[in-house]
Amino acid sequence: MNNEKLNKQQFDGNLLSPLPVILVGAQVNGKPNYLVIGYSCPFDFGKYIFFSLSKKRYTTIGIHENNTFSVNIPSEDLVVETNLCGNNSGRDFDKSSIFDTFYGELKTAPMIRQCPINIECEVSEILDYDRNEGIIGRVVNSYVNSHCVIEEEGEIKLDWRRVHPIIWATGGDFNYYRLGERIIPEED
Ligand SMILES: Cc1cc2nc3c(=O)[nH]c(=O)nc-3n(C[C@H](O)[C@H](O)[C@H](O)COP(=O)(O)O)c2cc1C
Repeated sequence: MNNEKLNKQQFDGNLLSPLPVILVGAQVNGKPNYLVIGYSCPFDFGKYIFFSLSKKRYTTIGIHENNTFSVNIPSEDLVVETNLCGNNSGRDFDKSSIFDTFYGELKTAPMIRQCPINIECEVSEILDYDRNEGIIGRVVNSYVNSHCVIEEEGEIKLDWRRVHPIIWATGGDFNYYRLGERIIPEED
């Protein structure tokens, strides 16, 4: 590698990126509401999901009231609808009929039928961080569209290339991307 590529400079802003865009669903005032979250993370090997939620969001009302929410992963053919949910608040824009909603075991975690991946969660902890809350949810059930599942080497696996997730970048970029090609490390 040439030396120019190894030069470092300090940089302000989140660089733990890119991450998949998720649509978090909550039941607010009797209706499903969906917002876009860019800052999310699985932990404890995916038994829990963490995300960062501004206290101003309409969604916070439903999460506090029901202690449930859903995580939906949209595919790139839903980028317009997704962007709509990330730029309009349920306070003044009814987002309940943008998608078809279904419910699982938790009766108050609305999920999006058009999204290839849906996860219903029960709130286990809410962290209070000034203008934001850290929402931690225990995964209760996960659902995936059958066409995204493959059998490889005798194992049933999710093929992310069939999911076509929307990837969101930070660090001043703030654009959407698509998932690239698989990398296979060469062995010596
Ligand atoms: C790409 C993208 C990423 C976003 N990430 C977050 C996030 O991590 N946390 C958050 O509180 N809002 C985030 N938002 C903003 C909310 O999705 C947006 O304010 C939404 O309209 C709130 O809806 P609500 O008021 O109905 O809850 C993001 C928006 C976009 C477009």
